[in-house]
Parts: sequence; C-alpha cells; structure tokens
Amino acid sequence: MTSAPKGTIYGVGVGPGDPELVTLKALRILRAAPVVAYPAPLDGDSFARAIVAQFLSGAQREIVIRVPMVPERFPAQDVYDRAAREIGAEAAAGQDVAVLCQGDPFFYGSFMYLFSRLAAEFHVDIVPGVSSLTACAAASRSPLAARDETLTVIPATLDAAALERRLAGVDAAAIIKLGRHFAKVRDVLLRLGLAGRARYVERASLPNQRILALADIDAAAVPYFAMILLGGPNRPGEGER
Ligand SMILES: C[S@@+](CC[C@H](N)C(=O)[O-])C[C@H]1O[C@@H](n2cnc3c(N)ncnc32)[C@H](O)[C@@H]1O
Repeated sequence: MTSAPKGTIYGVGVGPGDPELVTLKALRILRAAPVVAYPAPLDGDSFARAIVAQFLSGAQREIVIRVPMVPERFPAQDVYDRAAREIGAEAAAGQDVAVLCQGDPFFYGSFMYLFSRLAAEFHVDIVPGVSSLTACAAASRSPLAARDETLTVIPATLDAAALERRLAGVDAAAIIKLGRHFAKVRDVLLRLGLAGRARYVERASLPNQRILALADIDAAAVPYFAMILLGGPNRPGEGER
C-alpha cells in the first residue's frame, strides 16, 4: 500500500507590516495552503497573521503557536516541540502548511526553531520576505549601507558592555529588538558620541509608523517593533551632528 505524499511546509515571510509588502509568492502560497500556522503572544493577537488577515479564506485550518515573550523561557523548547508535532502531523497527512513569519523567516525569525525540527523529515521551503531592515531604511529616507561601509546588526538585548564593544568604531549599523532595552542603548550611543548618527524607526510601513530623534523618545513607551539605524561616519550630511 502506498501512503499519501507528504505536504510541503512553507516558512512564509510576510514582510514588516504593510500588507502591500507581502510578495506575490507569499500570497500565492498562503492562499493555496489548507493549513496556516503563526506565532502569537500568550495573550493577544499574532502580528504575522494580522498582516495577511485580508488574504485568508476563512476555511483554512489555523494553528496558533503561543510563545511566551518572557526572556527566561525563551526559546521555549516545549512550545516549538509541540508546534512542530502539530505541523508535522498535517504535512504527514498530505496537507501543505504555510507558517507565517513577520519580515523574513531567516532574519532573526523564530521559524528557525521549527525548521530545525522539521527539515529532516519534511520538505520545507523558505519564502523570503521584505525584512524590517530595508523597511526601516526606506522609512527613514536614508540608505541602510552605502559604498564600502560594513553593515553591522546588533541585538539591543546584549548587555551595555557588549553593546559598547560592538558599537565602538562601527560603520553603518542596525540595532534591533529595542523595546525595554532602549534606555540602555541610548546611554551607550551618547557615551560613544554616536547619537547624532542615529535614526529611530518605530513600526515601519504601518500607518502608525514614527521616525524620531533619540532625544524625543520616551524610553518607557518604546515598542518591540522598533530599531535604531546608524549611517556610516563619512556620509555626506550624515556625519556627527
Ligand atoms: C525577532 S526580530 C524579527 C525580524 C524579522 N524577521 C524581519 O525580517 O524583519 C524582531 C525585531 O525586528 C525589528 N522589526 C521588525 N519589524 C519592524 C517594523 N515594522 N518596524 C521597526 N522594527 C521592526 C524590531 O527591532 C524587532 O524587535
């Protein structure tokens, strides 16, 4: 007896927030998939799902991957074990599954935890998405990296000493995962004399997008979906101000 062919699991990048930044390929796959999975906080809605909500048929089975956002529990191995089992069961039964990933799946995306659990047994395709890096550069109206600059991506979750080491002498840079780490990052930038090169971008590509100078930001109100971009030191009009 031959068993039914396995379904394909897609890691689908849905972009930074604006539904018009969903790629044609992502749209085709997520419309055709009978099963759609996505991460969501323990309480509350999934950002990735909200981006593509208007494209879902209503008839698709949805798998919600509730991920605790508490750092001590991260990466929440049991959550991804369970989600991988559920997604794998659908694929084993011949169903294609589209796993929605905010931005790009392989740029700091939690999809990597599912990929590592599923790729040996199932066919897993990655559909790249518009990343927050390029969306924030576009929003800030300033290139992400130019000419012979080296672009460095730094998670704000590092401690102040590590941030200082990575930022000392940096060229172009993106400091991501700001949220509650903003005040620490701003202190380091001020200490290193880099504040004048910094552009803060919040919720890029969404209607409530904001671009602010560091001095104008209320540290207590900085959301997780925010980053600081630094232009290289030798850009015309963008050097130390
Ligand atoms: C875990 S990373 C995921 C990045 C995502 N996979 C991507 O390709 O953009 C989350 C961080 O990306 C940045 N980010 C994602 N979307 C953003 C947006 N629309 N505006 C500003 N920053 C964003 C924030 O720094 C956030 O803390």
